[in-house]
Amino acid sequence: MRDGYVVAVVGATGAVGRQAVGLLEARRFPVRELRLAASPRSAGKRVDGHPVVALSEEVFEGCDIAIFDVPDEVSREWAPRAASRGVVVIDNAATFRLDPDVPLVIPEINGPRVLDRPRGIIANPNCTTATFLMPLAPLHRRYGLRRVVACSYQSVSGAGQAGVEQLWRELRAAAERGEPLEESLGSAFSHPIVFNVIPAIGSVRDGGHTSEELKAQAESRKILEHPTLEVGITCVRVPTLLGHGVAVHATFEQTPDLDEVREILRAAPGVEVVDDPRSGRYPTPLGAAGRDPAYVGRIRFDGAGNLAFFVVADNLRKGAALNAVQIAETVVALQPGLRPQPARA
Ligand SMILES: NC(=O)c1ccc[n+]([C@@H]2O[C@H](COP(=O)([O-])OP(=O)(O)OC[C@H]3O[C@@H](n4cnc5c(N)ncnc54)[C@H](OP(=O)(O)O)[C@@H]3O)[C@@H](O)[C@H]2O)c1
Repeated sequence: MRDGYVVAVVGATGAVGRQAVGLLEARRFPVRELRLAASPRSAGKRVDGHPVVALSEEVFEGCDIAIFDVPDEVSREWAPRAASRGVVVIDNAATFRLDPDVPLVIPEINGPRVLDRPRGIIANPNCTTATFLMPLAPLHRRYGLRRVVACSYQSVSGAGQAGVEQLWRELRAAAERGEPLEESLGSAFSHPIVFNVIPAIGSVRDGGHTSEELKAQAESRKILEHPTLEVGITCVRVPTLLGHGVAVHATFEQTPDLDEVREILRAAPGVEVVDDPRSGRYPTPLGAAGRDPAYVGRIRFDGAGNLAFFVVADNLRKGAALNAVQIAETVVALQPGLRPQPARA
């Protein structure tokens, strides 16, 4: 035990929750006591050696910070219950992201917003939104972003542990049969994902958009505080395990200068430029997996006068758990009065 905070990870057995537990330790977040919770199915399991309990009110007694990595409906019920006990809630679900009383935070872009949280909840953005805003935000500050047209290439872990398991199951079955599958072998995706791409993520809404696409639009406007920003995106599931890529074509109020764009991106915290396509150097999901930065390459003007680039980030890290832990770091750095407690004797 050391001086620090009582921290809970809710949904600790899931794809994002497991990462959050590992990152709290790897980044040496000052944890005095770590409490892991999940559904009753997981009570008694262990994650990184720590016991998991079934989610209950007890988890939040005397707790300082809770990172929620659970489905929307679970966070809808439990995040306000935790916040009502004075716990700082950092929520990875979509439930509260657009609530005007809940800040939606990417620390490198709008970190101080963590202090303005009337409901006691801070929301973590969607993984694709976080990925493409990492390079777009610093460019917006310099040139004034007007419009973004994009296509995403999203890994199966974006659909949680169930998505990862479905890809492996289908891969083994297809290899055994020696041909692609006709039916999906899991509930994460309704079509086979192995040897396939699926051009719809989330539920289909009015106008033919998917919920994932509407999230990218609304969350970008909120984080950049740019209500008139135009965002047109098609979100596509691809059979990669980790890392969401986004091909971005952006229009600005002022015409960007390519050398300056590279300089701005090289200087941007959390962004790494990998851009030498003649030597085969550009970002890929495999190259980003297990790493923290958003990697940007293929920087150029497209044939239609837009600034174009390809950006990839690990969806479980910058797209979810890393961003959440960075939010916790920002809260303890900026919040007067939230002091680490001395280690128990
Ligand atoms: N995957 C990503 O790339 C990503 C990125 C950004 C945001 N998110 C969001 O983060 C959240 C977690 O996603 P994930 O991908 O980690 O999903 P996941 O792998 O399916 O994990 C879900 C977690 O929630 C727990 N859970 C489910 N029902 C529960 C209940 N009734 N009470 C308590 N715990 C419950 C599960 O516990 P059991 O193991 O006991 O079932 C598990 O720990 C979701 O809201 C997701 O939209 C995900």
